[in-house]
Formats: sequence, C-alpha cells, structure tokens
Amino acid sequence: MTAFSTTVDLGTMVSLCKRRGFIFQSSEIYGGLASTWDYGPLGVELKNNVKNAWWKAMVWGRADMVGLDAAILMHTDVWKASGHAERFNDPLVECKECHSRFRADELDEQICSNCGGELSEPREFNQMLQTRLGPVQDDTSLTYLRPETAQGIFVNFGNVLTATRRKLPFGIAQIGKSFRNEITTGSFTFRTREFEIMELEYFVRPGEDEGWHERWVKDCMAWYTGLGMNPEHLQLRDHDPKELAHYAKATTDIEYQFPWGWGEMQGIANRTDFDLKAHSEASGESLTFFDDDAKEHITPYVIEPSAGVDRTVLAFLVDAYTEEETISANGKEETRVLLKLHPELAPIKVAILPLSRNEKLAPLAKKIHQSVQSSGVMGGLVQYDDAQSIGRRYRRQDEVGTPLCVTVDFDSLDDDAVTIRDRDTMAQERVNIDDLVDELKKRLIG
Ligand code: GAP
Repeated sequence: MTAFSTTVDLGTMVSLCKRRGFIFQSSEIYGGLASTWDYGPLGVELKNNVKNAWWKAMVWGRADMVGLDAAILMHTDVWKASGHAERFNDPLVECKECHSRFRADELDEQICSNCGGELSEPREFNQMLQTRLGPVQDDTSLTYLRPETAQGIFVNFGNVLTATRRKLPFGIAQIGKSFRNEITTGSFTFRTREFEIMELEYFVRPGEDEGWHERWVKDCMAWYTGLGMNPEHLQLRDHDPKELAHYAKATTDIEYQFPWGWGEMQGIANRTDFDLKAHSEASGESLTFFDDDAKEHITPYVIEPSAGVDRTVLAFLVDAYTEEETISANGKEETRVLLKLHPELAPIKVAILPLSRNEKLAPLAKKIHQSVQSSGVMGGLVQYDDAQSIGRRYRRQDEVGTPLCVTVDFDSLDDDAVTIRDRDTMAQERVNIDDLVDELKKRLIG
C-alpha cells in the first residue's frame, strides 16, 4: 500500500465536497449565487467540529478567557468610530471597456483579463455590506452587516469586565458570521461575501503586547498541528507596514498551502489600544481597566488572533485528502481515497455496517448502532449504513474521513463479537460487543 498523493487539485476537492454532502453551491437550482456556499449534512458536522475544537482550546481550555455572542447588526456609530465606514477599503480598478472590476493589489497585468481593455487608475472601494432596517427606507434606516466580529467584543468590554471581574491579561472569544462586499471572489470557499470568523481579543498591559503577540502566534500554530495539520503546509508571514489594517501595529498571518498556493488562514494582529480608545471617545463611555497595583485607569492593548472558519475547514479538508494504491477484496489494484481527518473533526465518528442486508444480521446491527449512539461518548454522528457491498461502504466511509467502522457479520450472532476497522491502516480487530463502546472511546478519544 503506497500513499502517493497528498496535494489535491481544487476541482477534485469541490467535486468530492458536492458528491459526499460537504459543500454545495448556494441556490444551485437557480443557477447559483456567485461565491456563496451551503454546508451539507457532513459539511455542517465538520464545520461545527472545527468551531467546537477551537472553542474548547481557546475558551474552555484556558483560565483567562470568556465567550461572547454579539449581534451581527450594530449601531452605525460603531462603524464610524472603528474606522470601517471610512477606511475599510480595497483598491479597485475598472475596465474602461467592459466595466469588470479587479483588486489592484492582485493584478498580474495592466490590461483587463476579461476583454483586454484598458484599466482605470485604482480607487478605494468600501467593503461594508449595507442593509436597511425598519419600515421607512431613508438615510436613517441604513446600517451595515458586520465585516468582523471584533467590534461586538470592544463595545461590550465594560459589560464583560463588570460581569466577570477579570484581571489583565484576559480575553473575550467569539465565533460568528461576517460579511464583506468583496470585489473579487473565488477559489471555492476561500474568499466569499458571507463567511464565519473565530476570533478573540486578548487584553494586555501596554508594553506587554509584543511578548503576548509572539505567544499567540505560537499557540495558534500549535492548534492546527495538534489537530493533525501537516506543519510543512503551514507558514508564518509578517505584514509589510504598507499592508497593515488601519488599526494594527503589527500582524502575522498563518498561511496554508492551498491547491493554488499559499493563502491567509488566520491573522494575529496587535491592535494596540486603537479600538477601545476610539469607542471611548465616540460614545463618551470609559472603556478602561482599573489597575489595582498602579492605582490608575489604563486602556489595555489588544492582541487579536482571527481565523476564518471556512478557510480553516477547507484547509483541513485539503490537508486530510490522501490517495493510496491498494488491492481490492477481489484482488484488483485500485486507488483508495481517504480523508485522514483527526477524530475530533471527522463528521462521522463511527459507522456501523452489517456485512449484508440479510434479515438475520439487521436486528443485532441495529441494536449495536442504538447502544453506541445512545452512549453519547463518541461526540458526534454514529451512522448506520447497509447500502451496497461492504467493500464499497468501507470506501465511502474512507472518503468522508470516518475513523472507525464496526462490521457485524454472521459469526457475531454466535460469538457476540464484531470487527473494528481502522480507516488509516485498514487493520481489523475482533472485539466483544460488551466492550465495544469502551474500545471505540479509547481509540477515538484516548
Ligand atoms: N477582526 C480582524 C479581521 O477581521 P481579517 O484578516 O480581515 O481580520 C480574519 O479576517 C480572517 O477571516 C482571515 O484570516 C480569513 O481567514 C477570514 N476571511 C477574511 N475575509 C474573508 C472572505 N472574504 N471569505 C472567507 N474568509 C475570509
């Protein structure tokens, strides 16, 4: 058995995602809505598992963190104070012939790639997505869908401090939808107009910010590799001063080697005291921390690790994709496709497979399915699958990353034992049905 391919082309990944129910084009039956994607039955499990793993590590796994779930809609003054209404821009050029628009910073050549026409000078294009609230459609009803979740954290800084009595350093984490009117989209779920962010604001004493920035870069890297991502597919890139966001003193990106090249998966920014000071000034509310030691109010600095959920999901899928040359049950050479997803991320944790649809096997297989499922220890889907040959079912489960299959065969009726098959090694081991739940738990959770 040889594993010969770990870098998948994007077309293969898009096709697998559709075929197996991970990701579908939005509004497909109407011709689709550009760069908008829906997560299918397995995609929603994978995405939830990624978000839960992040929450578990960043919030539950630390003593210095609390969570928040702020609204997507916020007062328009928030976006004025944060600088987004005026400065959340991308440089844009427009073709003078066909009026196609392109990001000036992503242009390979100075002519239109659509029609060869002449391009305009770059101009700033605001990325905030607008909407209107209430029954009257006038200027007062105009508001924005948030382009980042961070501002919900900054404006709640005082509320969280009062409610939790935290001391510096401490952080507030949040996962939620964000919207940007991107000019160029594409590369599957990499750049879309609606996406999810997992981010946290970590408040520290001024002067301690640079040390914390370095620590967060290390901790974030360790999160990806701890969930099985190949370190060789990850790299760090510091922002050039010219590309820094309007609020940042320094930013380090964690980039993943996507099928088309390196791309940002997460940014870890030093936002200084920019946001808290801006909101204090604009709202008139003090957003400071009383330092008991120094006996004075200080405005904390902020380190912000901010990861795109959709990009992270795509990176885990690409990273897990493996092809192997193997010999099938009937002795033929074949290519086995598998997703070597970490068990914590795998959408289906265990598949229960009766050897065939023979009516003698179904009652025992269903009973086993019921007992594994209701044990609740697998932390995710337990699937019952009896359609098609056992070989095909193994391949199907391999292709969606199911770490363990349990096969119920005719011997099981007499010896009260079943076979556990491991996705990565294909090794099979017979275990007593009474020990099955413990055995599965040991292999999945440790
Ligand atoms: N609060 C900081 C912030 O929003 P960002 O680098 O602009 O920083 C955070 O966005 C993360 O969100 C990025 O690292 C990226 O993974 C993801 N992201 C940004 N724009 C995106 C888009 N158009 N589509 C999908 N994900 C996107």
